[in-house]
Amino acid sequence: MIEPSRKSDLVSYPIRDIVQEAKILEKQGKDMIYLNIGDPGPYGFRPPQHILDAAKEALAHNYSGYAPSEGDPDLKKAVAEYEGVQPEDVFICAGLSEGIDFLFQAMVDPGRNIILPSPTYPLYLTKQRVSFGSELFYESDENWEPDTHDLRRKINKYTKAILVISPNNPTGAVYSRKTLKEIVDIAGEHGLPIIADDAYELLVFEGESVNLRELCKDVPLVSGNSISKNYIYPGARVGYLAFHGHRWDKIKDAIQRLCNQRLSVNWEMQRAGIAALRGNNKHVGEFNSELKKRCDLLDKRIKEIDGLKMVKPKGTFYAFVEIENHTHKKWKSDWAFVRALLHEGVVVVPGTGFTSTMPDRMFFRVVFLPSLQRLGEALDRIEAFMKKH
Ligand SMILES: Cc1ncc(COP(=O)(O)O)c(C=O)c1O
Repeated sequence: MIEPSRKSDLVSYPIRDIVQEAKILEKQGKDMIYLNIGDPGPYGFRPPQHILDAAKEALAHNYSGYAPSEGDPDLKKAVAEYEGVQPEDVFICAGLSEGIDFLFQAMVDPGRNIILPSPTYPLYLTKQRVSFGSELFYESDENWEPDTHDLRRKINKYTKAILVISPNNPTGAVYSRKTLKEIVDIAGEHGLPIIADDAYELLVFEGESVNLRELCKDVPLVSGNSISKNYIYPGARVGYLAFHGHRWDKIKDAIQRLCNQRLSVNWEMQRAGIAALRGNNKHVGEFNSELKKRCDLLDKRIKEIDGLKMVKPKGTFYAFVEIENHTHKKWKSDWAFVRALLHEGVVVVPGTGFTSTMPDRMFFRVVFLPSLQRLGEALDRIEAFMKKH
């Protein structure tokens, strides 16, 4: 047997791992409703036509070579205008996923950390681990807003940056201006930069949406964004890092080298990215109103199910559902719960994929992208399952 590296043992991605188990059941003839993957495509949502047209147009022109490593100059310019920075502050990545990888490679030595929100998007956990960084989290309050007292308390001398994900995966929370201002103050007090994960920036269907770039005046900020969710085009694999403010020169140099070693991002798709940033945003209102309808249904139904509760999301297409105390005693783990639910034909993601800081509580993440009818069916199955157990 050829042994894998120690590093590869540290890699896991529960959102996709669970699918392998679901596929086995599906092969045996079971009707499965997938509430696990945050991809609008399989649920009938399409990228705006003008973005698809730009990709097609690019195929007909000469974009078949390697693009400049740091990105197509027109796309960098479009991002720079959007972000309010200079083109040389922008680096185009293969989705924000690659941007996250680059940030950890550029900023986190063994034993150091980026302080992460709990719960968090699993890729950050994996990247912290494979950097042999120390795992450090700040907690959220009962509405899934960051607990800023905890953040202040937890930052240590090995902390290199603060991660903020708003709108949030997995909770769907959209942080208030007050909370974000407090985080900026804390970053300022500690002389730390902020990493803003804006993957869901445009997907807010309730309340105000504030972006950190409005608030981080003197505090260095790197905004990570992508067309995957905001423009309903995850398959394009186009994202970016935009560095705001001073003190980033050495990190930008490292990111440039990381870009160089992987040569470039698919050039046709970067041309599509330009159309996304420069074109109309009509899809945003339409998509958000569809998401709101689904979220309302999910919220109403979860309230009616004994043993489950959740904080109603204000953005994204995720909700983090809690299996209440009296119920979860029956389950050895969230994986046991999720596996049992698989047998009822519903695929969700175990909460421990997103957090390790709440061992006495149990959660699962739901994606509310399916049609109202299909989501309703999934909730019927979940309700019957909860009654049975
Ligand atoms: C919070 C968050 N950040 C980043 C990403 C990475 O997205 P992509 O690589 O498609 O841009 C995701 C994808 O689900 C996400 O949920």
